[in-house]
This record gives sequence, structure tokens and C-alpha cells, in this order.
Amino acid sequence: IVNNNWLIGLPKAELHLHIEGTLTPEQQFELAKRNGITLAYDSAQSLRAAYEFDDLSAFLALYYQGMDVLITQDDFYDLAMAYFERAAADGVRHADISFDPQAHLARGVALDTCFDGLLTAMRDARAQFDVTSALIMSFMRDRDADEALEVLEDAAPWYGEIAAIGLDSAEVGNPPEKFREVFARACELGLPRVAHAGEEGGPDYVTGALDILDVCRIDHGVRAMEDADLVDRLRDSQMPLTVCPLSNVYLKGVARLEDHNLPDMIAAGLNVNINSDDPAYFGGGMVNNFLACVAAFDWDQATCRTIAGNGLREAFMSDARRETLL
Ligand code: ADE
Ligand code: ZN
Repeated sequence: IVNNNWLIGLPKAELHLHIEGTLTPEQQFELAKRNGITLAYDSAQSLRAAYEFDDLSAFLALYYQGMDVLITQDDFYDLAMAYFERAAADGVRHADISFDPQAHLARGVALDTCFDGLLTAMRDARAQFDVTSALIMSFMRDRDADEALEVLEDAAPWYGEIAAIGLDSAEVGNPPEKFREVFARACELGLPRVAHAGEEGGPDYVTGALDILDVCRIDHGVRAMEDADLVDRLRDSQMPLTVCPLSNVYLKGVARLEDHNLPDMIAAGLNVNINSDDPAYFGGGMVNNFLACVAAFDWDQATCRTIAGNGLREAFMSDARRETLL
């Protein structure tokens, strides 16, 4: 048994984390009971046994079904607090958490229910767990851009609380150019922009996110490695890439973590950090992702420190906070 205490003690930031993806089967049952919802599974164990995904869309179907139990402000609060508590135990000192308002609006859950629950949890997590956080409002790329634009306008009361807007959900067939106007409007509003790109989509999705969406971070970006000019560009600009190693394994982007191109990305001089994406679905949190990389790539402590430092440097946090962690 390896002693992981040094890894837990290493200050880490998580930059790519879907708060809805932290909903564990146990909590899903708890919230279902509280809200009088009957789940299609008879136990948390049988639900967890269904977590076997052939690809991103197979995962997303279960993922969006899972979040049906999130109804009240307290549900969002409890979801986020449970994540922050586990993250703190993992030595995560800051988290950029994203959420998908459209997934909730489509079920009749109001925007202020989501924001109030999440923002209250973020404030309490700082006091209770010494975990700071920032909020990313993500748009679902498999839904209409007009709807995203509408949600962006409706979120006006919270612009001051939003660190960035994001773009997630089913990538292939929903290229960056579909969201040109939405991201241009966010730019006009002074909101930073990030986007999933190059997870299942090819390198052209990454190029599009840079050129058309004017993002300051790429979420995933692993398929950028297929385009040598793009790799040069990402290296020269030191564009942050929020790679999610276990997620890529669970969604069959690679057969085994040993086959992942993360070591090539590092060798190419790219600004990569690692993240858990949806820890309740993909084999756990930050420590599990680091441990998996240590095992698969033979990372030494210095490499782990470098990767953790990359995350701390690129997270949406104050310089004062960053200084205490680096
Ligand atoms: N939403 C939650 N997890 C996601 C992922 N890995 N890719 C795209 N959208 C997501
Ligand atoms: Zn993601």
C-alpha cells in the first residue's frame, strides 16, 4: 500500500468539475426520498452497477437522468457541500465548479434555485472547509444557441458571481461555431469564457474554441495532439488545458490510462492540469486521478507538484489566495 498523505497534503485546485457530476448514487437516493421521487433502480448499488459507459452520450443519458432529484435550493446546497467536504479531504483547496442551468430549467427548476443553493454552499465551504471556489455557468451544446443566449441574459442578476461561462455536453455535431453569438455576447458582458473541446471532437473543435469562442481555457483538449500546428499554438500561448484522465478512461476515449496521451502533452510543453470532471461517475476525485497517473505514467512527486501547480496558477481565484497555495 502506497502512502498517499503527501498527495493529500499537496495543495490542489480543481478546474474542471461538473457539480451535477458529484451526485453519488447514495445522495441520489437520499434526495429522491426527500422529494418523493421514485428512481428506476432499487438501490444505490444497482444504480452504481449501471455506470458502464460506451461513450460520452451513453454517460450523458444517465447523468441528466440522475440530476432529476435536484429540485430545491437545499438540494443544490447539499450537493455542493457534500462535494466540498470530499474535496477538502482530498487536499483540494480551490475548485472552479460548473453547472448546467439548462438541464434544470428544462425540468422546471428556476435559475435562482440553482444559483442560491450553489452560491450559499460556496460561501459556507470557504468558512467550514477552507476551500475557495468560483462558479462557471455552462451551456449545453446539444441544445439551441438561442436558448443559451436567453439563459445568458436571464442570468444578469448573477454576472458578478460568475467567474466564466462554459460549454459542455455532447460535442460531436455541435461545433464551436454554433455558439459564436453566445460567446460574443459573454465577451461583451466582460465574462471570461471556457469550453469543452477535443474530448470526443477532433482538433478542429479546439481550433474553433480558440478562434471563434475566444476562450481562456480548453476543457479536455486531448485530441488537439492530432494537429502538430495546433500543438505549437497551444504551447506558445500556454493555453491551459483541463485534462480529466479517469474521465477519458471511463468514457472510452482510451482503453487504459497507460494509453493516454497526457505524458505526450506534458513532453510537448503544454500547460496541462488534471481534474476529476464527474467524480461520482468516473472513479473518484483529485487524489484518485493523481494516483492513477502515478501508477500509469510512473509520475514522481516533482511531476505531481508541477501538475498541481499548473492548476493553482490557472484557476479562477484571487492572487492573494493563490499566493497562500503556491
Ligand atoms: N458534462 C458532464 N461531463 C461532461 C463531459 N465529460 N463532457 C461533456 N459534457 C459533460
Ligand atoms: Zn467536463
